[in-house]
Amino acid sequence: MRLLLLLVSSWAVLGLALADSSYNYFRLPTALRPLKYNLRVLTHLEDPENLRFEGNVKILFKVLENTKNITLHSKNLTIDNSLITLRDTSSANKKYCFSGTEVIPAHDFFVMRICEELVAGQVYELTMPFAADLNRQLEGYYRSSYNDPETNKTRWLSITQFEPASARLAFPCFDEPNYKAPFVVTLGYHKRFNGLSNMPVKEIKPNEQIADYIWCEFEESVPMSTYLIAYSVNDFTHKPSTLPNSTLFRTWARPNAIEQCDYAAEVGPKVLQYYEELFGIKFPLPKIDQIAIPDFSAGAMENWGLVTYREIALLYSAKHSSLADKQRVASVIAHELAHQWFGNLVTMKWWTDLWLNEGFATYVASLGVDKINPEWRSMAQESLSNLLVIFRKDALESSHPISRPIELVNEISESFDQISYQKGSTVLRMMHMFMGDDSFRSGIQNYLQKFSYGNAEQDNLWESLTEAAHKFKALPKSFDIKRIMDSWTLQTGYPIINITRDYSAGSAKLSQERYLLNTQILRAQRGGCWWVPLSYTTQAEQDFANTGPKAWMECSSSGEALPKTISGLPGKDQWILFNTQMSTLYKVNYDERNWKLLIDTLINGDFERIHVINRAQLIDDALYLAWTGEQNYDIAMQLLEYLRREREYLPWKSAFENLKRIKNIIGQTPNFEFFKRYLQKLIVPIYEHLNGLNDTFIDIEQQDQVLLKTMVGNWACQYQVADCVPTAQAYYQAWRNEPEPDKRNPVPINLRQTVYCTSIRHGNDVDWQFLWTRYKNSNVAAEKRTILSSLGCTREVWLLQHYLALTFEPKQGIRKQDSMWAFQAVAYNEIGFHLARDYFMTNVDFIYKFYNPITKDMSRLLPPFSEQTFLQSDFDEFRNFVTEHRSSLKGLEQAIQQTLETMLTNVQWKNRNYGQVSVSIRSLIDK
Ligand code: BES
Ligand code: ZN
Repeated sequence: MRLLLLLVSSWAVLGLALADSSYNYFRLPTALRPLKYNLRVLTHLEDPENLRFEGNVKILFKVLENTKNITLHSKNLTIDNSLITLRDTSSANKKYCFSGTEVIPAHDFFVMRICEELVAGQVYELTMPFAADLNRQLEGYYRSSYNDPETNKTRWLSITQFEPASARLAFPCFDEPNYKAPFVVTLGYHKRFNGLSNMPVKEIKPNEQIADYIWCEFEESVPMSTYLIAYSVNDFTHKPSTLPNSTLFRTWARPNAIEQCDYAAEVGPKVLQYYEELFGIKFPLPKIDQIAIPDFSAGAMENWGLVTYREIALLYSAKHSSLADKQRVASVIAHELAHQWFGNLVTMKWWTDLWLNEGFATYVASLGVDKINPEWRSMAQESLSNLLVIFRKDALESSHPISRPIELVNEISESFDQISYQKGSTVLRMMHMFMGDDSFRSGIQNYLQKFSYGNAEQDNLWESLTEAAHKFKALPKSFDIKRIMDSWTLQTGYPIINITRDYSAGSAKLSQERYLLNTQILRAQRGGCWWVPLSYTTQAEQDFANTGPKAWMECSSSGEALPKTISGLPGKDQWILFNTQMSTLYKVNYDERNWKLLIDTLINGDFERIHVINRAQLIDDALYLAWTGEQNYDIAMQLLEYLRREREYLPWKSAFENLKRIKNIIGQTPNFEFFKRYLQKLIVPIYEHLNGLNDTFIDIEQQDQVLLKTMVGNWACQYQVADCVPTAQAYYQAWRNEPEPDKRNPVPINLRQTVYCTSIRHGNDVDWQFLWTRYKNSNVAAEKRTILSSLGCTREVWLLQHYLALTFEPKQGIRKQDSMWAFQAVAYNEIGFHLARDYFMTNVDFIYKFYNPITKDMSRLLPPFSEQTFLQSDFDEFRNFVTEHRSSLKGLEQAIQQTLETMLTNVQWKNRNYGQVSVSIRSLIDK
């Protein structure tokens, strides 16, 4: 890569003219550096048939190497070449002419050839006009709308979404994260609208040319990357926050949703203040706005000073949003505000290190939420849920390292995945836990301080953290963070640690290898070595609070795993348990005796003394090992028996996640009957303990018990446990009997998903129509989503077909951004699965066009297929389908790989385990 860069700049030095498309490197040439942007954009929102913008950008730039070309990014913009100007800013103020321009579509480059050479060291000013329609693609500068209930008219607004590479759709610019510059934004629009941008308003003037239009100029920004620029013209209202000594903080939404802003207006400033303290750096802008956009492709976007959200991620209604919805709002806000430091103040040098943005924001958000709502116990929930996701995703051979080379825009988009977010966050948590709080904080504070307004790569982070770790004596001098962490960020996957105890010697031998779901991959090809901090406790000690390492698994200088022996362990009547609170991402396999000792405590002993995260770990590990044949299912199933005593959320979550995988396969076989009875038996005690579906929520003190009740209720109705189904139906009937069901809903909020789904599943088309009408009338995004997911529960084939058709016709009421929820709901339904699969395979070209260019949304249609396919013939069919439809699956390559591999591991599971599991289950239900 470096070589190429050199080549590129030497062309520039020699002043060679670019032959057509001769510049075929994906990065901008490095001869120029922008110093400042003046951006003026005039937005037309009056005529729905002609929603558009036009503008002008003035870029001050410095020449680093002599050149006769200016190359920058521009995509789908109309540029009148005759109006482009270039002048020297020195006293001579000389004007330059152009000998031509060229467009290189592969890289979105716009190249201007100058008649004369620009000279290194000089500063020039380039002015370019541009114009385009406000597009419908949810990226760049695009349109959104909502219905005004008072007039029943459509209201239009404009908004930007630039990350990762769409600023170039809105104005010509150097659209790479390392080109930071201050921006002065000026927006022109009809005076009945508001204009918002990253900075506060500086001045508003009338537009001399267009009646009733104004020009709104914003203050000059701090130096920032183009992907963080944002602006919007809208007729929203806002809610100011009133926290003392805080930055000016406002929350915006369409007028009819303004009362749903209270919660966000309260959480935002609280979290912001906490971060200022945590990072030791004040939020640098004078104001921050957060705004809920009706049409929005991502969940939210951290634009500096103007954070944008989907409605469901910002708005909260006490009457309609569940606890999980509320926690989601807090967590998204905390995530985006964390980016104001990790991402905005310090930005990754290139998308390779996207995890420095997303991993940090994810991890820091969990600290932020925990700080403002400790009673939610969300830290443990978040940590476990990240671990569970990564154990699965990263056990695929088709996974990838956290830090990886990126070239095309497609690849950048694909990198916004669970590896950057959840694995990134998980390895940060690991460091936090092995370094201790003081040294971790000090390290990240120094890192932020040192790279403020600049860019960093992961080695920069490692340096700051090593320095702090040594200063605080949190790490032996002979260890450095880079050596440890490179094994986690440059390498795909995670290890399984095999532990073989010598009970008479009181020792244990540890070895590691990569854990893979695909069992056809031979041992010899697994390899890999991770630096693993080893924490453990014993049955006598049961100290789960100490998460610091007692020893390390190390790697040789050539990267080979070194075996490890640990001594001082107890005798044969006591278990040992590794990885207290699961601080580190690895699976553990014990010898059979140790498993039995653990199971004995879970079933007969004082199981609650084992940390709740470790109980979840034991379930997940035992089921994984059984899945891939490292242990047999008897051990795993025996262990699960203890769940009849379990009353906490996390172990149940872990169990259900794993049982779901088995259900996805067994559910389509004749043995489902036994699986169903087995689950009923498992669930009854907890269902009864939680009082079934009775509305006991007011009396629940521990908030995660609310989540537990929601989850258990859902499984109980799916498996027709006790009175679950009739109770759900009674709630639904009561709602249907309400004279004004859009105003009054007697169903307990946290059970709505279960109640709706169960009633639709066991109900008729009148029940379905009732819910669809509620969907159309609802004003609350969270409620809409709950309904969308429930409408797919019907077992009527024609209704499922009808619903699939509605899903891809936005005029019918389902916004494009929400379509995948409807589709998933159908595809996860055992009857809908086959219909959805046929629909997808028949209409893939249409679906691709529907989502294009947001291929990420399209990739969300795939998991239901991967998880429920387990026959070799279906796998083959899907693989052929994929090969034949490459062009309609462009940009989904990574998702397709993962889909196929998951299908394959299901096929293997069916062949290897189906028989044994069926036998195990049968023996347990008769017990
Ligand atoms: N920076 C992202 C937004 C983003 C995502 C831009 C993908 C471009 C492509 C933002 O900070 C983010 O991570 N949003 C999440 C929600 C978050 C709370 C996990 C999202 O959009 O899913
Ligand atoms: Zn993010």
